[in-house]
Amino acid sequence: MIHAMRDVIVAANWKMHTTPVDAGELALTIASRTREPSVIRVICPPYVALAAVRDALAASDPDVGIGAQNVHHEAAGAYTGEISAAMLVGLAGWVIVGHSERRRDFGESDDRIGQKLGRATDAGLRAILCVGERAEERDAGEAEAVVGGQLRGALAAHDPALLAAAGLVIAYEPVWAIGTGRTALGSDAALMADAIRGTLVQLGWGSAAEDVPVLYGGSVTAANIAEFLAEPTIDGALVGGASLKPDEMAGMVARASLTARARLGAA
Ligand code: 13P
Repeated sequence: MIHAMRDVIVAANWKMHTTPVDAGELALTIASRTREPSVIRVICPPYVALAAVRDALAASDPDVGIGAQNVHHEAAGAYTGEISAAMLVGLAGWVIVGHSERRRDFGESDDRIGQKLGRATDAGLRAILCVGERAEERDAGEAEAVVGGQLRGALAAHDPALLAAAGLVIAYEPVWAIGTGRTALGSDAALMADAIRGTLVQLGWGSAAEDVPVLYGGSVTAANIAEFLAEPTIDGALVGGASLKPDEMAGMVARASLTARARLGAA
């Protein structure tokens, strides 16, 4: 069933690409080629390029959301080199939390990711919580259990009503699909979106679980995004490599606008 009210979102995760010198111009180009009011667009540049992207978009396209790629789990303190949620206020309205590259490279645990989620939402940032299984876990038939465990670990300590009010977004990014050119099947991603909302219900979210946008991420391009957006339980994409290319972003957002307009029409 199509849930008429859920946002359709295309979020660009630029990862460790761009500099403060070139990020603003890239954001402007992408913004001008993706003007589709029905789609929520979010650009997540590196921390050091947040101000450049904000300034570049402020006059021409303030509708584009700006996100950070990470946030520290404490509010403040002796954490050399780290960035708190409060520091992001004014620079970003969104933040990615629990990306698999951070789980892998920085040992971020579900518990830690849950703390980050709390800091982000306390600061008024809209969080995109990433979950996803590794190849061997999918091969062993454990994908849903792994993702369910990640969700329980990150969310159990939080009041569902607060996270729902903060507009929590969940991105299902199977680790084996990230940067590999290999995507999940749309049907598998849709089943996982169902499982994700089922876990939210188990965690006490009730009917609010149906309102949580679930994005797919992992080698999404303009050529394959339709497979995911054709699934009523999927609400958009979190895009890495292709999000640095204006042509790709234009194609992805154009396809997303078809889904968004169909949903608005069904509302
Ligand atoms: P790719 O689109 O490059 O596979 O990256 C996906 C991702 O990790 C987005 O957060």
